[in-house]
Order: sequence, then structure tokens, then C-alpha cells
Amino acid sequence: MISTSLARRLSGAHAVVAFTGAGVSAESGVPTFRGTDGIWSKLRPEELASMDAFMKNPSLVWEWYAHRKKIMSGIEPNPGHRALVRMEGLVSAFAVVTQNIDNLHTRAGSRTVYELHGNIERNYCMQCGKAYGSDFAAAGSGVPLCPACGGLVRPDVVWFGEMLPEEEWGASVRAAEGAEVFMSIGTSAVVYPAASLPLIAKRAGAYILEINPEPTPLTPAADEFLQGRSGVLLPLLADAMEKAGSTAQ
Ligand code: OAD
Repeated sequence: MISTSLARRLSGAHAVVAFTGAGVSAESGVPTFRGTDGIWSKLRPEELASMDAFMKNPSLVWEWYAHRKKIMSGIEPNPGHRALVRMEGLVSAFAVVTQNIDNLHTRAGSRTVYELHGNIERNYCMQCGKAYGSDFAAAGSGVPLCPACGGLVRPDVVWFGEMLPEEEWGASVRAAEGAEVFMSIGTSAVVYPAASLPLIAKRAGAYILEINPEPTPLTPAADEFLQGRSGVLLPLLADAMEKAGSTAQ
């Protein structure tokens, strides 16, 4: 399934980007957003993941994040996350650009990780900006208030209608522009501006490899589409890269 030419291309590349979405964490037990079992098939995003929703009903929004935190506290990185760590060791400039907020890439051991949509393990005060860790807003404890100023504390995640974190976005665009191979893995590639990264990479000359059990709107623009689960395909890809690297020496 992994061609020798793909393995050679990847192991010979100096700059590779792994752009990931919810599908990469599916095999860890984190529900995806879209599709028949996706979170957004049951809940409307603007009712929960937006500033409007939070200002209208902060306790409902916090209840939902407490629920997601609870799901995420019991999960572990899967073979797909771990394969990306192996790849990072084989390529001189390797970056994971993720839309996921579950912290699993970092927990797996990836070192260069740009989190475009924030991280559920961080919180901050909307009034004074003070940062708080994961334990601060414990599951089921209602709406947390800032001990320093009394302001509302919110999860450090990007909501609908909000800008992406500037530094992470800038670094991701630079990585996409410099990538020789750009892998789009486990994402429906429909949420912008994140979904523009594969197109930025392509325009700059990268080889676009997509990994997903289903085709997406990106598929026609991809140079290669590997159809299947990332927890299966990424370890095979890392094996093939290691093999290609050792035979090239
Ligand atoms: P989606 O739920 O839109 O897409 C998940 C993708 O993963 C789909 O294309 C699935 O086919 C694929 N998939 C499912 N199981 C997989 C597996 N085992 N291996 C590989 N792929 C698999 O999730 P995202 O594209 O991440 O934003 O969604 C993007 C953004 O939309 C999220 O970051 C979130 C959401 O609204 C914010 O919260 C700002």
C-alpha cells in the first residue's frame, strides 16, 4: 500500500508537515466533529463553541467542556500519534500542525507541534488574561472565576468566529510554505483558515499526501490519497521511511 517512491520521497525530504484533525484521535476514543457519529451531528457549534454562547450561558458551555475534558482525561495517544514521533526523528524539519485540542501529539512525544485551535488543558481569564492550567477548572465545578480579578475564566480554545492564535498560525504558514511533503491526516479539510494550509503548501510546490478513510474536498488536489485509518497507515509509513532511509545509506 505504501509505494517505494513515497517512502523514498518522505525519507529524503528535509521539511515535512503533518497537518492533523480529529480523525487522528478517533482511534484513541475521541469523537470526531462531522460524519454520522460526529459531535456536530448532535450539537450545533454556535450553541456551544462561540463567544455568544459563552456570554449567554457560560455554565452550559463549561458543562460541555467539562464533559469533553473527562473524555480526554481517560485517553492515550494511539499508534498514529506515535508514528508521527518516529517520523520527526527521521526528518530534519518536521512539524505537526494540529486542529486538535486534546494534547495527544505532545503527550505522544512530538516536539514541534503548532496547535491552531488551542488546547483543552489550558484556560485563561477573559478579563485580565491570567493563564490557568488544566486542574483549575475541574470537571463539574461550574463556571470558574479568576481568583486574581473575579473575571470569567474560559478554555484556551478557538471558538467559531475567533481568530487563530497569531504565532501558531504564522509558524504553520511558514512550515507549509517550506514543506517538501505536506500530509493532511484525519481532517475533513473544511474549516478555514486551517483548511487553506494544504493549498498554501501545494502552491509553494509541496507534494500533498492525504490520509483519510473517506475522500474529502481536498482529495482532488492531493498528489496521493491513502485511504484508511491513520492508526494503521502512519505506522506503515514510518516503517517504510525507516527502511528507505537505511537502504539509501
Ligand atoms: P472532522 O470531524 O470534520 O473530520 C474528521 C475526519 O477524520 C473525517 O474526514 C473522517 O473521515 C476522518 N477520520 C475518521 N476516523 C479516522 C481515522 N481512524 N483515521 C484517519 N481519519 C479518520 O474534524 P476536523 O477536520 O478536525 O474546530 O474538524 C476541523 C475543526 O472543526 C475542528 O478543529 C473543530 C471543528 O469545528 C474548532 O473547534 C475551532
